[in-house]
Amino acid sequence: MTEEQRRSRKRKRGGRRHGGKSISRAASAKDNESTSVTASSSAAASSKSRSGSKSSSSFLDKMKARLSGSYFRMINEKLYTCTGDEALDYFKEDPSLFNVYHSGYQEQMSRWPEQPNDIIIKWLKDHSPALIVADFGCGDARLARSVKNKVFSFDLVSKDASVIACDMSNTPLNSSSVDVAVFCLSLMGTNFSSYLLEANRVLKPNGWLLIAEVKSRFDPTTGGAEPDKFVKAICELGFTSISKDFSNKMFILFYFKKKEKQKSKDIKWPELKPCLYKRR
Ligand SMILES: C[S@@+](CC[C@H](N)C(=O)[O-])C[C@H]1O[C@@H](n2cnc3c(N)ncnc32)[C@H](O)[C@@H]1O
Repeated sequence: MTEEQRRSRKRKRGGRRHGGKSISRAASAKDNESTSVTASSSAAASSKSRSGSKSSSSFLDKMKARLSGSYFRMINEKLYTCTGDEALDYFKEDPSLFNVYHSGYQEQMSRWPEQPNDIIIKWLKDHSPALIVADFGCGDARLARSVKNKVFSFDLVSKDASVIACDMSNTPLNSSSVDVAVFCLSLMGTNFSSYLLEANRVLKPNGWLLIAEVKSRFDPTTGGAEPDKFVKAICELGFTSISKDFSNKMFILFYFKKKEKQKSKDIKWPELKPCLYKRR
């Protein structure tokens, strides 16, 4: 083989090698392309799945909201259609239902133009801070946190160390030991009269009884009680009606004072219809 032939063979081999390299570069470029295609298609897919997960999470949120709304209405109906001791057992079995009830209740209240609790808090602030208060069915005990008075807070479940968990027809308070008894939307049980009897027991003579209740429960045109029959029954229990406030769209306020002397009477209590919330 001549020198020229050897060089030419080398050139060919090197060319092939170089060509191989270019092929592999091209392949790797293609690989990159395909990687970037994969990347962009996976980015598209993930953005698609992100928007998919966004819509599925908003769907889930909607479903959760619906479910907790349904739970709230179910618990609410239960509380209005059973006695206080049945309600106590109900929450003892599953205390988490109390949170479900209260978040649904807060949601309902956020739609009310005015809160009855605020009116009662204002009333207390306008009177002596020395008055001892019992808040029957206190919920989250906002009333106790909002005033300077000594407040005994009662509810079926204690979510705060200051709240005494009990059925409010049977509180641990001594007889004639408080100046103000408050029921803010809490006359829920079918035995609501026994809560008022308990308030009567713990109130001092001349003590105040303040009741805020949902207006629809006192609308005789829709099956509600006659407000006058309710007032009459409480007066027969041993109170004087001081005033009634019908000015609010959503609730009525009743102000009573405990009489100095009490006569026992057979009281005819009106029925208070449940306050059931509609699904929105
Ligand atoms: C509609 S919420 C009102 C809560 C609070 N008073 C407010 O205005 O925000 C009624 C409360 O009364 C309580 N309740 C109903 N029946 C009760 C009973 N027998 N004994 C103690 N609490 C009771 C419920 O658990 C609930 O927290």
